[in-house]
Order: sequence, then C-alpha cells, then structure tokens
Amino acid sequence: MKVGIVGAGMVGSAAGFALVLRGAASRVVLVDIDPARARAEAEDIAHAVPFGGAVSVMAGGYDDLAGCRVVILSCGVGQKPGETRLELLGRNAEVFRSVVGEVMRVCPDAILLVASNPVDIMGQITARLSGLPAARVIGSGTILDTARFRWLLGRQLGIAPRSVHAYVLGEHGDSEVLAWSAARAGSVSVESFAEQMGAPLTSEVRERIDTGVRRAAYTIIEGKGATWYGIGAGLARIVSAIGADEQAVLTVSTVSDVEGVRDVACSVPRVVGAEGVTAALVPDLSSEERDGLRASAELLKETVESVPL
Ligand code: 2OP
Repeated sequence: MKVGIVGAGMVGSAAGFALVLRGAASRVVLVDIDPARARAEAEDIAHAVPFGGAVSVMAGGYDDLAGCRVVILSCGVGQKPGETRLELLGRNAEVFRSVVGEVMRVCPDAILLVASNPVDIMGQITARLSGLPAARVIGSGTILDTARFRWLLGRQLGIAPRSVHAYVLGEHGDSEVLAWSAARAGSVSVESFAEQMGAPLTSEVRERIDTGVRRAAYTIIEGKGATWYGIGAGLARIVSAIGADEQAVLTVSTVSDVEGVRDVACSVPRVVGAEGVTAALVPDLSSEERDGLRASAELLKETVESVPL
C-alpha cells in the first residue's frame, strides 16, 4: 500500500517513521513545500527500514503521490505556546486551499487523512474542497486524546493501556469530552475496578486525569515547541486499519449523521477499514457527557461556518 504524506514537519515525519516501524505501508512518499526538508526526512526515516518493515521511503512532488491509497495531510503550521488549536484556523485553511486541489488532481481515489489543526475543522474543509464522500476524509480527531486517556487510566489502575477501553469524544481541543461513564477496565467499569483494587477514583484523581488529557498538548508545547510522537503513532494506526481492512473502532473525525453531532466533523468511536469510515457509534453517556458532546459539536459548527471557501 502506497501512502503519501504532505507536510514533512515533525508530525508528518513521525507518521512516516511510525509507518516504517509498524510495516503499515509498502511505499511512503513525503512531499513538502521545502523539498530539501522532505529529502532529509525521507533519508533519515529510510535508515530505520532495516529495523522495521519492508517499506520504501522517498521524497517527491505532488505527481509522485499517484497511486496512493491514503494521503496524510500534515501541512501548515502548529500551535505556538499558549495558542489554542482553533487560533490556527485562518492560516491552515489557506494552506489547504492549494494543497487539497493538488492532491485530488493526482490521486482522486485516495482516502485523505487530515492531521493539521484544528483537525476537525480542517477535515470538514478538506471534505468540502475535495468533494469526496465523508467516509473518505478522516480527521485524526481524538485518537490521540483517547490514547492519552487510556494511558493515564492504565497508570492509575495499574493495568496496560490496551486493557482500558475508554474514549474521548467531540472536538480534538479544549471542549472535548472524556466519556468516563463508558470507560472500562477489561469488562468492568473503571470505578468498580478501582474500588476492587482499593484505590477509588476520587474527584481529585478524575480531575487530574481530565487535566492531563485536556492540557497535554499545552504542557508538551511549553516544553519542546510541538507534539509529534503520539500523533505520528496514531496516524500510522489509522493507516493500518485502512490497509488491513480491519473494521477497527477508533475515535476519528468525519462529518456524519450521528445523534447530537449532526453535520459537523468531530470524533465519536467509528469503524475504520478499507473504505474509510463506515459506521459511527455513540457510547452510552451520562446526561452531562451528552450535553458536553453536543456543546463541543456546536462550537465546531459555529467555527466552521465562519470559514469562507
Ligand atoms: C496535540 O494534541 C497539538 O493537537 C496536538 O498534541
């Protein structure tokens, strides 16, 4: 499977690196406005091939994306310290206006996987600009927030994050909703599991985990300017689900017709396979979480309506 990456900054390059380590693609093509940067990243990533899967990695121009099954869009700018994801919108929308047309010209049948922030809105803009069906324009959405939630819960409960089934819903951003009421450790609720282990999930613990998830990017950006490993791995996970037609349930963002979040791109658990996103699920939520999800979707809807095409 050939995968294109437009934007060879830290996120795009980390995604390429993760694709190589997972062996999730047979060919990876990096395209960047700065061709020297794309060449350097492609060569550096290619040096990991002997330790990873049988993947060919190259840098190229848009024409080299021909035949890609998936194109990751990680171009544009990232947040500066203190800046919210929504504040990037004007700048990244401008970049996407030229990039999406170029990608569609060369590979009109690809699935577009959007990573640039604000990712839900960039996904919705990409859907409009490309004219592709919603199933084929996937934003990485809250796949990373879900990973952060599972990692923090796993640490708190003393179990592997892979044994934690918990989701972050709505915007990949400040208004996101941690679905505590649907969170499971194995097959039991996280509350029950924590009590059985003699360390109940107090409101302080929940607050600490909520902040740890919601503020993670801000803290990392303060420390090193950007985030890339987590999202790079998350993007490679989505590509694997498409490549192997997994029908995996992942919190990704598409425009869809789901109760409470109609006609706006945001994350709920969705089924991802070779055709892109084929179904959406809404977990059983408390009324507070359901209101939070609706408010998050509403905020995104208002913001996307303010973007001229
Ligand atoms: C993140 O959450 C900045 O959206 C990026 O790491």
